[in-house]
Amino acid sequence: MSVVPVSIGPRPILITGGAGFIGCNLADRLAGAGHPILIYDSLCRPGVERNRDWLAGRHRSRIAFAVADVRDTAALEDAAANAACVFHLAAQVAVTTSLVTPEQDFAVNAASTLRLLEILRKHNPSAPLIFASTNKVYGDLADLDCIRTEAGYAPRDALLAEAGIAETRPLDFHTPYGCSKGAADQYVLDYARSFGLKTTVLRMSCIYGERQLGTEDQGWVAHFLLRAIAGDPLTLYGDGWQVRDILHVTDAVAAYEAAWHRIDQVTGQAFNLGGGPANAVSLRALTLHIADLLGRPVDIAFANWRQGDQKWFVADTRAARAALGLPSPIGWRRGVARLAAHFGAAIAPALDAAS
Ligand SMILES: NC(=O)c1ccc[n+]([C@@H]2O[C@H](COP(=O)([O-])OP(=O)(O)OC[C@H]3O[C@@H](n4cnc5c(N)ncnc54)[C@H](O)[C@@H]3O)[C@@H](O)[C@H]2O)c1
Repeated sequence: MSVVPVSIGPRPILITGGAGFIGCNLADRLAGAGHPILIYDSLCRPGVERNRDWLAGRHRSRIAFAVADVRDTAALEDAAANAACVFHLAAQVAVTTSLVTPEQDFAVNAASTLRLLEILRKHNPSAPLIFASTNKVYGDLADLDCIRTEAGYAPRDALLAEAGIAETRPLDFHTPYGCSKGAADQYVLDYARSFGLKTTVLRMSCIYGERQLGTEDQGWVAHFLLRAIAGDPLTLYGDGWQVRDILHVTDAVAAYEAAWHRIDQVTGQAFNLGGGPANAVSLRALTLHIADLLGRPVDIAFANWRQGDQKWFVADTRAARAALGLPSPIGWRRGVARLAAHFGAAIAPALDAAS
């Protein structure tokens, strides 16, 4: 039996993982622009059914849902064979889980991506595929000589600190999650090279924003906010001086849409997609900002470093911004204030002040 509802027309845009955080924001944007969307998601991540219901309420006539697993070859073929374009976001998303069940992580992230590529090669070779990859493909960057500054860790090399990590950085897969996403990343690029498929890869830093289901294992900005708003303590693994470039989901989604529209120019290429040096923030600085927004201190505990954790990761976003025509991203203070408001925190004065 077909998993694809017929209601939305013959060639919808397929978003795997479309009930998830980034996927539902992407679906909202594309459906809002008038495109028919097929969301393919097993709903295995707790809470994503709320995103599905939100989308259904906003775009009933434009979005159809196939509740299925990407490991189900027949269902995936049914969904992808006639898609106008595929955004592949479904994944096992947590490094921690990948360390517990690496084979499952591989099956979902790597093997299913290869299967999706094969389906396109055989049945739908003109459909662009945009893949959600990760900055974890660059490993833990342990070779960088990092110093501790007032703002957190930074490479001693000032030029690198200013520019961020570029796509020319050698790949170095760490942890099963890094390996499975990295393998998928490379297959997606190679299917452009070997078979002429139209594919591109976005290697994302930390994305945050509305409808994020933050947990301790994935989605740390939302997780920190939710804990702090509830008055619960939060744990910083390591010393909290780790620095990340964070990007609001509105900007991430704009990059996905642009990658689709410009697929002929960007096919076969990978781009780093993050907040860049202007949105680099330490975990400690983020918690201080949250405390400012809430008008009360945040209760913090410390625990051991987690495996594969980078002391500093900031993406060099110049290639993505040029190739995809992206504007300057939303500043992290303002974006986090927006997310706090979305979660129901009373932060109006601070929100006004946030830049
Ligand atoms: N959020 C980030 O900061 C970030 C950073 C780097 C890369 N990524 C990548 O971006 C993508 C989306 O991430 P997100 O933050 O929206 O995660 P998410 O967990 O909110 O969304 C993933 C979705 O995939 C679905 N899914 C999981 N396993 C599935 C399976 N076997 N079959 C079908 N559906 C399945 C889940 O139910 C969920 O709705 C993932 O591929 C992730 O690896 C995210």
